[in-house]
Amino acid sequence: HTYVIIMAGGVGTRFWPFSRTSYPKQFHDVLGTGRTLLQQTADRFDGVCPSENIFIVTSALYKDLCQQQLPQLTDDQILCEPIARNTAPCIAYACYKIAQQDPEANIVVAPADHIIIKEEEFKRTIQSALDATKEQDILVTLGIQPSRPDTGYGYIQYIPESEKTIKKVKTFTEKPHLELAQQFVESGEFVWNAGIFVWNVQSIIKAFEAYLPEIAEIFAEGTGKYYTSHEKAFIDRAYSLTSSVSIDNGVMEKAKNVYVVLSDFGWSDLGTWKSLYEVSDKNDDLNVIDGHIMLYDTKNCIIKTPKDRLVVVNGLDGYIVAEYDNVLMICRKEEEQKVKNFVADAKERG
Ligand code: GDD
Ligand code: MG
Repeated sequence: HTYVIIMAGGVGTRFWPFSRTSYPKQFHDVLGTGRTLLQQTADRFDGVCPSENIFIVTSALYKDLCQQQLPQLTDDQILCEPIARNTAPCIAYACYKIAQQDPEANIVVAPADHIIIKEEEFKRTIQSALDATKEQDILVTLGIQPSRPDTGYGYIQYIPESEKTIKKVKTFTEKPHLELAQQFVESGEFVWNAGIFVWNVQSIIKAFEAYLPEIAEIFAEGTGKYYTSHEKAFIDRAYSLTSSVSIDNGVMEKAKNVYVVLSDFGWSDLGTWKSLYEVSDKNDDLNVIDGHIMLYDTKNCIIKTPKDRLVVVNGLDGYIVAEYDNVLMICRKEEEQKVKNFVADAKERG
């Protein structure tokens, strides 16, 4: 009864120009391993569930990319959204569809753009979360020890009592502002939400009914239509009716039966250039380079350029140099939060 939902509909603007609306980061081999982030995500669930129990939820625009990259999946396993409505509708669609096939399903929900270094430890953690959700009506998320007051994550405060690695959640705060994030990290009582969720299908349906009743009503109406030729028309209409809301704001912050499994499997959200820099191998001058590159007097940089072009860099410290397709971006690493402004401005220019 184990199923996996991979959320692969994000655009990943903070990773521009590498991540583009037409070709977001989950479809790239970001780490140069020979497998894209989406493929690595699917590979990671080898042995957790049979491949026919894996569902990808993505934009209709990326259906072909998903099929090319995961040829083992059938059409029915790639759920296409007509418009992006954030993660709550994405999860609702997949969960109501799975519930029609298997009302006792235990589900793991995972983003398509993370890296996980210790795969065996990851599988053990997922298994312990699955064991817990089989018996109890709880919503489980995985928690990571925070290393900095990052405002791009959800923060989970848990009740420390009990020796178990699964803890009852006291508060869940999605993307706090910097001061609050600093307090959270200093207190030592918080972990980051890894964005990987585990639950029984009945538990998440109950939570949708309680906290996002409109979404519950919309997707419940699909029962009987999923896995049929009526699914697409139903989904197109459902998405036109649903609002945009994340599972974190819509459900996890509100639900009372949330638990966190304290996890340590070498996790990183490859959300930004800096996060890629942090996890990549560096040369003696702490540069991360990928391309045909000659470096002089250059340190602390991440440089990723096409292999068919010789790039010469002299005297740079702490920069991102990234070229992809028809865009070259050069930006101070410390100012990478501006990348999303560049994307907006570039779009305006066409
Ligand atoms: N299908 C689909 N449709 N997928 C989506 C959509 C959508 O509309 N929006 C986002 N996704 C996918 C992304 O591709 C990604 O794999 C995942 O859902 C999470 O979305 P993000 O946009 O990357 O979320 P986030 O990183 O800002 O925040 C979440 O993840 C953090 C950890 O990485 C939250 O869960 C945070 O609490 C968490 O700390
Ligand atoms: Mg993310």
